[in-house]
Amino acid sequence: METDAVHPRVLGYLGRALSLELSAVQHYMTQASLVGLWGDEAAADRFRQETVEEMQHAERIVQQMLSLGVAPAASQLHPVTHAADLVGLLEHKAVLEQQLIDHYDEASRFCQLVGDQANGEFFAALLEDEQHHGRDLEAWLQELGGRRRRGYARYGAMAPANNGPRGTSQRNPSQRNLSQRDLSQRASF
Ligand SMILES: [Fe+2]
Ligand SMILES: [Fe+2]
Repeated sequence: METDAVHPRVLGYLGRALSLELSAVQHYMTQASLVGLWGDEAAADRFRQETVEEMQHAERIVQQMLSLGVAPAASQLHPVTHAADLVGLLEHKAVLEQQLIDHYDEASRFCQLVGDQANGEFFAALLEDEQHHGRDLEAWLQELGGRRRRGYARYGAMAPANNGPRGTSQRNPSQRNLSQRDLSQRASF
């Protein structure tokens, strides 16, 4: 399909999709590193996996744009937000995932409206992936006690032990310096 056969608004949807996906890559890559600093390698691995999935979405968009004869040019990445604990990070993640869901929902419906079946199917497939991410995220939040129900205290109670030798009930001073709150306060985004 040549560029002039595509509605300009569809190209706009592709451009914004690329910006959102690359924002997600930056966001989840940062979250993976942050929770890694907090000592939660399991959460870091989940964020890393999601970084890869969003990067693959970005690649699909780049390929789609190239197939339409358009140069990919993500306009602006969303700044990374941070929080004092994992539940807070996931709540920020939920905002970004919802933006992606809303965007692909609107884009696929617009394509239907203008009879662009190929791009409509392209956006619909991405919408399905993001809805899947949204469901996974809600399940993860539920594992941690839900949205802000008990927040940090709830997560802290469930986090893997990282407090020194077995049987030691208190953190030593150096470990205390690596607490989630301390690190998030030091982090400058
Ligand atoms: Fe994505
Ligand atoms: Fe996603």
